[in-house]
Amino acid sequence: MTDAITIRRPDDWHLHLRDGEMLAKVVRHSARQFARAIVMPNLAPPVTTSDAARAYRERIIAALPAASGFTPLMTAYLTDDSDAGDIVAGAEAGVFTAAKLYPAGATTNSAQGVTAIANIRGVLEAMEKVGLPLLVHGEVTDADIDIFDREAVFIDRVLAPLLRDMPGLRIVFEHVTTADAVAFVDSADADIAATITPHHLHINRNAMLVGGIRPHAYCLPVAKRETHRLALRKAATGGSPRFFLGTDSAPHERAAKESACGCAGIFNAPFAIESYAQVFDQEAALDRFEAFASLNGPAFYRLPVNEDRITLRRGETKVPDLIGDVVPFHAGDTLGWTLD
Ligand code: NCD
Ligand code: ZN
Repeated sequence: MTDAITIRRPDDWHLHLRDGEMLAKVVRHSARQFARAIVMPNLAPPVTTSDAARAYRERIIAALPAASGFTPLMTAYLTDDSDAGDIVAGAEAGVFTAAKLYPAGATTNSAQGVTAIANIRGVLEAMEKVGLPLLVHGEVTDADIDIFDREAVFIDRVLAPLLRDMPGLRIVFEHVTTADAVAFVDSADADIAATITPHHLHINRNAMLVGGIRPHAYCLPVAKRETHRLALRKAATGGSPRFFLGTDSAPHERAAKESACGCAGIFNAPFAIESYAQVFDQEAALDRFEAFASLNGPAFYRLPVNEDRITLRRGETKVPDLIGDVVPFHAGDTLGWTLD
């Protein structure tokens, strides 16, 4: 039995850091584990321009503990009115690492997202030309589509046609939750990858709905049935370079979650790496953990791997019931790994 594992320092390829007081409270949790993170731009108002991204990056850096060594990688929030020139200039200036497609209305602060792919055609062509990755929240928003089907329908209606039209576009299918998405990413003849969250590896939809409604297990895309969770575990631990770590840690204050209309999002940043390690251990795949956590992401993003290392040891990590005013993922549970 492996009792300790040392890997290159991991990165988080999908993270919500928020702004203001929340940013100040949460960012150190990510910096404790990760060297870099792709920072999601769905603030209110969203980060739509390179100037806004520069300013947000400064606020993140100012909120970091001293000598954290943590680098935020910024993303552009695409809208129907996005300016291709500004996004490419931002990419060339090292401000933007990627741009994020939120279908309008799909999730938290997505009201200003894209209403039809045709509206961002010019931006996508420019991104394809310079190799700037498109990060996709892959759910349709049509009222007549069941919420549990929205990811699978997105593949057929939006993603597959987009790849056919623009085969050179580099895409990350974010926080995949279905066997359909895994199969699509596995077999697509394109430069496509996917992030997988810790919560979608641990929980299925029962966690949300059995024994009472549990708002802290509610996120978007919503957790699916068990067969999908098992497909995600296989994808994450199976050794394909197309799958890598992205927590989608999305903190909301407790009152905003425990509400008649609770916000979507799971705050998993505090113990994300321990949570993922537990999954790889359960799947007898600890030898593949470094690839998922620390190698596949940089390879896709064409960035260097981190040179320093972290060590995880078998041992108890007790997750508190509350961190600040936010209920963390695994609240009250004990994880089987500790980070040195
Ligand atoms: C995210 C948030 O709160 O910003 N929520 C979530 O459930 N994942 C948005 C998102 O990534 O969909
Ligand atoms: Zn997210």
